[in-house]
This record gives sequence, structure tokens and C-alpha cells, in this order.
Amino acid sequence: MSRQSVARAHQKIQELSWEPAYHEPVSHYGTDYTFQKAKKKDPLKQVLRSYFPMQEEKDHRVYGAEDGAIRGNMFRQVQERWLEWQKLFLSIIPLPEISAARAMPLLFRTVPNPELHNGQAIQMIDEVRHSTIQQNLKRLYMNNYIDPAGFNSSLRNFQSDYCCGTIGRQFAEGFITGDAITAASIYLTIVAETAFTNTLFVAMPAEAAANGDYLLPTVFHSVQSDESRHISNGYATLLMALSDETNHQLLARDLRYAWWNNHRVVDAAIGTFIEYGTKDRRKDRESYAEMWRRWIYDDYYRSYLVPLEKYGLEIPHDLIEEAWNQIWNKGYVHEVAQFFATGWLANYWRIDAMTDKDFEWFEYKYPGWYDRYGKWWENYNRLATPNGHNPIVFEDVDYVYPHRCWTCMVPCLVRARTWWSTRSTASGGPTATRNAGGPTRSRSGRRTRADRPRTWAS
Ligand SMILES: [Fe+2]
Ligand SMILES: [Fe+2]
Repeated sequence: MSRQSVARAHQKIQELSWEPAYHEPVSHYGTDYTFQKAKKKDPLKQVLRSYFPMQEEKDHRVYGAEDGAIRGNMFRQVQERWLEWQKLFLSIIPLPEISAARAMPLLFRTVPNPELHNGQAIQMIDEVRHSTIQQNLKRLYMNNYIDPAGFNSSLRNFQSDYCCGTIGRQFAEGFITGDAITAASIYLTIVAETAFTNTLFVAMPAEAAANGDYLLPTVFHSVQSDESRHISNGYATLLMALSDETNHQLLARDLRYAWWNNHRVVDAAIGTFIEYGTKDRRKDRESYAEMWRRWIYDDYYRSYLVPLEKYGLEIPHDLIEEAWNQIWNKGYVHEVAQFFATGWLANYWRIDAMTDKDFEWFEYKYPGWYDRYGKWWENYNRLATPNGHNPIVFEDVDYVYPHRCWTCMVPCLVRARTWWSTRSTASGGPTATRNAGGPTRSRSGRRTRADRPRTWAS
């Protein structure tokens, strides 16, 4: 389709939408936001005639890769440590995807902009596709992996798993619950998709490939390549909301809520998969903290959010700094992994013990890690051999099982004893670098192990 005819078709589609004159439309999904009926440009023009051939091509590549994985005997070569965590991940992720599809109709009535309706309708189809190809991937793992238990029962397990199930559900249902704009726009498109899909759908597939799973990256890059359109939907809606001052307080409230909840849930899950599900312990491979710093702190926070401040967007700087602080100084990801492993007997996936090679990598990437977590993982190794002892959760290994936070559902893992307060001061800390630029540890100018302070406060 030529560019001109795409533009014409795009114009035509908007003429198809109309305001019914024969009845007063009922607003199913309310919002406190106010939108002027202003003409705003669709930021990423897409029409169905050009959309379907493109998606078809992407699907062909996914199914081609699946065929290749079976023929190439990928399932016998993939790292077991990695694929076990996929039993958890692939039981959760199709739900947020289908929730994202269900979120789009919340916006049709609340955002009065036919150009954007087009983008939202296309996003809805995307999200159904994402959910479908991810479930299909899980089915393929189930059929071909040497230990299918956990893949076969993932949906049932997910719904009856008190811990992961409730966290996953409250996260996914956040896209469709409450105020339409809060849920479907701020929580889903502006925070979950724009900030966190980078670690979800880009960093995680890279780790999968490093562990011999080249199928998951094909599927998830097929997903991620749709996100640029979804991010544009969110951005256009955000600009519309910002143009009316009465929305500014709502935006401030919603960004705080959406940011913190996304950080708690996505960083817990993806951080753990990437750091504890991998066998790739190359020193130059980025840690989750390094990826987060690059993709979320620099690319999302500093490049996307901060420039909107001059238009009246109140940014939750304190919560963004605290999220980094949690990851870098308070061991958030390590606490989550330890929690998962403590509860291994209730899980439907196996959690591999950490070896000396892992210890060394953790200590290199997170100096002080061994003092804080090394002993516990040694106990985990010791108790992996059945010889009359109890599962680790019932043994005295200096671990207190946490209660849960009723905001994000994630257990309250970060307690005073996990803080590593000396590190942020010694490294200058992320707060100091926010305006000056540069992560705490730049990729080029990484300090040596010996330079770094290494005392986890206990
Ligand atoms: Fe999606
Ligand atoms: Fe999406």
C-alpha cells in the first residue's frame, strides 16, 4: 500500500466512527479525567490493511522458529535452570496480555479521539495475539521439554498458588479495574508498557538466548515490536490529559500508584528470572541492576518522563529513586529470589542451587552479596540432599518468613537488616547523578571489585 493510500485509508476509517443520535450513550467505564474533544494526531499511523500482513509475517517467523527449535533439538540443550523458571513466567504472562486486550475498550468511550480509537483497536488485537503466542510457546515447552510437569498444569497452579497467583492477578487486573484512564492508560500503557516492557521483553529474551533457548526471544521480540505502537497510544493520551490542568492532580496520583506497583511486581519477577535463572556468568554480561539503570532510569525516567515536567506533569522522583535504591542498595531482587527458594516445596517449578561460579558473579556484580546471602544459599545446597532434615523453610537458617504488603501483594522482604546503606553514599548514589547524568556504575568506567565497598548492614 502506498503511503498516500495509507493516509487516505486512515482518514476514511475515522469517518466510520460516529456519535449515535438515537440514544444517550451509557458510560460503562467512568473516569475522573477530563478530555477536550481536541483533534490530536495519531502518533503512529496504522490501518488494518497494512497491519495484518505485517503481523502475519511476524507470526510466520514465530512458527518457523518453533519448528526450528524442535528440529534443532533445542529442548535437550537448553539450560534446565532457565527453563524451570519459565514454568512460572509463562503461567503468569498471558494473563496481563489478555487484560491489556480487555483494557482497550475502557478507553474507547473515555478518550474522545477517533484517531486514537484506531490505535486502541489495533492494540487490542495485538494483545490477544501476544497472549495466544505465549500460551502456544508454553504448550510447545510442555510437549518437548524433558520435564513437562509444571508447564502442563500452569494455569491451574497459577490460580491456586496463593502467593504468585494473587500477585499476578492484582497486577494484570490493574489494567482493567477502577478509573478507565488510571487503569488502561497510566498503569498499562504509560508505565507498564513504556517503562517495564524493556526488561520484560528485551532483557529477558537476551538471557533466554544465553541459556540456549532461542525460541522464547523470537516470540517475545514479536511481542515487543508491537509495544512501540502501544507506547504511542499512551503518549498521545498522556499529552491530551496534560493539556487540561484539571487532570494534573490525577496524573500525579496515578503515576505514583502505577510506578510503584509496576516496580514491585515486574522487578521482583524479571529480576529473579534474569539473575537466578541464568547459567551465563560472564562478567561483562549486564546485571539486572545495570539493565534497569540503562533502560528504566535513563531511557524512561530521564528521557521520557522528565521532559514532560515543564508541561505540568508531576513526576514521583522520590519513588523512582527509591525503586533504584531497593534494587541497588536494599537487595530487592535477591530477597525475592531467596523468598521463592525458601518456599520451593509449594512451587510448581524447580529452583536450582547456586554454585561457586554463581557466588563469584553475584559478588562481582553486587559487592557484599556473599556476606548477606552466601550462607543461606550454602544451606539451600546442603538441604537439597535428603538426609532426614526438613525443607529449608522449617530449618533454622537465619530466615524470617515475611508477611505481605497489601498494596502490591509482594511479601515485605526488604527489612532494615537487608539495607546496604554505605554503598549509595560511597558511589555517589543515583540521586546525585540524576541531573548530572550517568549511572552509578557506567558500563565503560566500571570500577574494580576491590574498589567497591562491600558491607551489607546486618
Ligand atoms: Fe502485549
Ligand atoms: Fe502492549
